[in-house]
Amino acid sequence: MNAIANRVHKIFSESFSAEPRLFFSPGRINLIGEHVDYNDGFVMPAAIDKGVYYALEKNETDECHFYAVDFDEWFSVAILSISKQSGWKNYLLSVVNEFLLLNKKIKGFNCVFSGDIPRGSGISSSAAVEGGLAFALNEVFDCGLDRVELARLCQRAEHNFPNVKCGIMDQFANMMGKQDNVLLLDCKSLEHQYFPLQLDGYKIVLLNSGVHHSLASGEYNIRRQRCEEGMSFFKTKLNIQSFRDIHNADNILPYKPEMKPEVYDCCKYVIEEIGRTKKAATCLQQNDLIAFGKLMYATHEGLSKLYQVSCEELDFLVEQTLSNDAVIGSRLMGGGFGGCTINLVAENAVDDFIAKASGAYLHKFNRNLEAYVMQTGNGTSEIK
Ligand code: GLA
Repeated sequence: MNAIANRVHKIFSESFSAEPRLFFSPGRINLIGEHVDYNDGFVMPAAIDKGVYYALEKNETDECHFYAVDFDEWFSVAILSISKQSGWKNYLLSVVNEFLLLNKKIKGFNCVFSGDIPRGSGISSSAAVEGGLAFALNEVFDCGLDRVELARLCQRAEHNFPNVKCGIMDQFANMMGKQDNVLLLDCKSLEHQYFPLQLDGYKIVLLNSGVHHSLASGEYNIRRQRCEEGMSFFKTKLNIQSFRDIHNADNILPYKPEMKPEVYDCCKYVIEEIGRTKKAATCLQQNDLIAFGKLMYATHEGLSKLYQVSCEELDFLVEQTLSNDAVIGSRLMGGGFGGCTINLVAENAVDDFIAKASGAYLHKFNRNLEAYVMQTGNGTSEIK
């Protein structure tokens, strides 16, 4: 068994003198399709082999006891007095709250958890925390929710106490991921396909800028509001229901003078990114990784200049790759404002790429870079 799973198991049995059930809940990468999940777009995420491990069992009381190993922090709450708190506790309590809102018969439980994804790095530690707890409660209390219902429950949980109005991508990938596959998810209908992730001769490498991003800080919700404002404007002007109906960003150019510049720019980005993701899916099917990589660069440009969710450090990391022939695609990944870049790198040059990027980053920002060569994994599951 994995070392972290062993650890949460050991702490649980020593603390509660009982045997827990064990669960693993993954983080995710996203190949392309950024900030379009809450705009009826398409995304291409995959679950990864890093995430959060839970040891959990019911305790026949009305109390929930949590131990966050990575913060060395305990806390307890009566199931009937669940309410919004501060920080990371909200991600757990909000999940419990969603089960109660559905009138699911859950009672007290003991829970120990720990993970190996850095928080605020754009790999969705939040969806991993939510998904692991939701899956475990669903199993332990026999609530009968399916994986898609659990993903939706976790999305509502993130909207509610933590107040991050996220799309469905992270929670969907967390529940529905399949090892060696990437999902193509239509975020409007939730129709999805799996593509085998065949990157002949290439690896996915994440570079963690170490700039801690917090979507809860409000900028994420502001981007979402800009898109909503733009969409309600276009609904009246263009008689459409969704960004995907606009097809070409040139179609909104005539309305630019009537719109706030930041709202126009966000809408332009979203229309372009929906188109790019559809193209990228075709490139992946045809094994045209060079074309796929070019689309990744275009996404970064849009996220940085139009959507304005990049930062100096992420822009630097992407720019550095332009002079490295071993890198065919690079962009910031996830919500932005910090976190990781995702890079498509020739397999035989991965070590060299990491060494060069780390050196340049240290020189420029006096900060160490962490690098992860990614492996995909399965969606949340019980460890038997
Ligand atoms: C965060 C959100 C997702 C998605 C991405 C950006 O990870 O949780 O729903 O919007 O940002 O693509």
